[in-house]
Amino acid sequence: MLKKRPIIIDTDPGIDDALAIAIALFSGELDVRLITTVAGNVSIEKVTRNALRLLSFFGKEVPVAMGARKPLIGPLVDASDIHGASGMEGFDFPEPREDLLLQENAVNAMRRVIMASEEPITLVPIGPLTNIALLLSMYPEVSEHIREIVMMGGSVTRGNKGVMSEFNIATDPEAAKIVFDSGIPIVVATLDVGLKALVMPEDTQKLPDLGQVGQMAHCLFRKYRGGSFNTGLKMYDSCAIAYLLAPTLFETVDTFVDVELAGSLTKGCTVVDLKNYMKQPANAKVCVDIDGEAFRRWFLESVGKCI
Ligand code: RIB
Ligand code: CA
Repeated sequence: MLKKRPIIIDTDPGIDDALAIAIALFSGELDVRLITTVAGNVSIEKVTRNALRLLSFFGKEVPVAMGARKPLIGPLVDASDIHGASGMEGFDFPEPREDLLLQENAVNAMRRVIMASEEPITLVPIGPLTNIALLLSMYPEVSEHIREIVMMGGSVTRGNKGVMSEFNIATDPEAAKIVFDSGIPIVVATLDVGLKALVMPEDTQKLPDLGQVGQMAHCLFRKYRGGSFNTGLKMYDSCAIAYLLAPTLFETVDTFVDVELAGSLTKGCTVVDLKNYMKQPANAKVCVDIDGEAFRRWFLESVGKCI
């Protein structure tokens, strides 16, 4: 039996987060040691409640630790317009599993889990990078115990929050810069692949027959404004999980990435130096393309493995 890869998911559920978490938990290949929450799509209280509601619905016993309630510097500007006021509008979840919520904050919980692990852990941030930046700043000793950071965030081209900035990076660009400057191996599932990771109408129709998570997805997708039933629903965060479980879906480039902090028009832009103008060594493996048809098949197959 293949040994499961130990991971920590840092998340701001979030409708697309919900499917990414489900696929990770039911994949049979990932050992989700901890789920940490970060303010992003909606407030820290709501994303934490949503994480605990998901675990209640999934019947999974994973500890949850609450993290940052705002970005390092600026105010939280949420994405409730995309995910609804609760962050997961559209489905009647059971009561949250409050017993799974640790008294520890996310940063201390991540440090404890990472340092206690018998092997290096993969961090999977699928929200703003505030918690990850705080972890690396407060406890630099964790770096050598982290195998990889596989994130959803950033963009090779244009943005979805700002003209040139993707939501997770734009929400906390200073945190993102700390992470990209860390020297830890990083994989970036960019907006460019997220925009092609679509659940199309003929896929959505199949979801209710794929079990309880499929039915949950079908209900949530009615409220999800990350695309539409007709034009395709963007599974941004599932791309980070897809990289872990099916990396051949992606075309990747090892290159240098920096984060614009000073641009009055471009703050939060991930500057992906594909042509090495800046003469810097590569600090990230950037997903620049995805096989959209293969992703659709993988997504439905993965949801079918859930309850
Ligand atoms: O830009 C997409 C990202 O922003 C996803 O993580 C989505 O959940 C939102 O947080
Ligand atoms: Ca997210």
